[in-house]
Amino acid sequence: MQIADDILYIGVNDHQLDLFEGQFIVPNGMAYNSYVILDDKIAVMDSVEAHFGDEWIGKLEEALGGRAPDYLVVQHMEPDHSANITTFMDRYPEATIIGTVGAFNMMQNYFGTKFEGRSRVVKDGETLDLGTHTLTFITAPLVHWPEVMFTYDAAAKVLFSADAFGKFGALDVDEDWDCEARRYYFGIVGKFGASVQKALAKVEQLDVQTICSLHGPVLSENLEHYIGQYKTWSAYDVETKGIVIAYTSVYGHTKEAVEYLAQVLGEKGCERVVVTDLARDDQAEAAEDAFRHGILVLATTTYNGGYFPIMHNFVQHLVDHAFQKRTVAFLENGTWMPAAAKGMRADMETCAEIEFAEHTATVMGSLDDDSRAQIEALADELVAKL
Ligand code: FEO
Repeated sequence: MQIADDILYIGVNDHQLDLFEGQFIVPNGMAYNSYVILDDKIAVMDSVEAHFGDEWIGKLEEALGGRAPDYLVVQHMEPDHSANITTFMDRYPEATIIGTVGAFNMMQNYFGTKFEGRSRVVKDGETLDLGTHTLTFITAPLVHWPEVMFTYDAAAKVLFSADAFGKFGALDVDEDWDCEARRYYFGIVGKFGASVQKALAKVEQLDVQTICSLHGPVLSENLEHYIGQYKTWSAYDVETKGIVIAYTSVYGHTKEAVEYLAQVLGEKGCERVVVTDLARDDQAEAAEDAFRHGILVLATTTYNGGYFPIMHNFVQHLVDHAFQKRTVAFLENGTWMPAAAKGMRADMETCAEIEFAEHTATVMGSLDDDSRAQIEALADELVAKL
């Protein structure tokens, strides 16, 4: 793949991976992107995951056409990109490795060396002259680790953006960017919205025509859309009008109550109701939906005097990822002493700028006229907030 006359893609597709970062399902695999800039001097942008060293070096060698690389630019030290740094440095002993001070500290931790005598530590705004291309390094801490930097190539108007603008999914599978980029963003980077905003402010000063992320496709059209999505996500703004109901159900009664709520919401005028079973559906997708929409209903069973463990896991995921600026409502089930809503609310109160619905619907075992009326009152309140 050619990014520009003298910038080539040398990344790899991973279809063997079961869970990205040990937790995220990736039905369409994963791409670990790497690029090479062939100028008077040659710079390679990041390495790839541990299992793909041979394939990556093979692609690099083909791109080099017999030349030797001068630089390895390390934008991010997470092992999906850094695992083959030593492979590269052993193979090309004349090459210089470039990164932030944080990146070199991490190299010490991972590889037991900072490549002394073959390294250059760069700060925000420093440049590297390759000939026609001059690379400017832009620190982007916590997008997604503290050592991260972006790299801007002014000659080609290319932004190498580390994890930013990346997505789940290998590059040999054609799929929508938004869905898997959103799931990736809120699962992995979502906690660091303020840091993403700072990095975006730096990017806005640049004339960017192509974005080369470390995951997902090279973006060269409609960049306002991708940057706009990142602005919305990092500000925790509502992207899509609608109500998400995330639930668990033990014997089906809570599910029945949720289905009734979804039906009533529709009848009362809510055009978009997203229902997700947290025990069976992908929780990262559920979290993505919670961050995407403005209203979240958590529906679960009272359990051990608190609430159902799978819902605990989801609530903790939201808290850990800085869920905020949303309306949250509760639907609880408890046959003799309902306590789920109280427990969920206590945990969700640790999130910033949450408006809790006045109504909570309580089901005592199974739906009856009283609990149906409570669900209808809750639906009225939520539709009014849309
Ligand atoms: Fe793709 Fe944060 O590593």
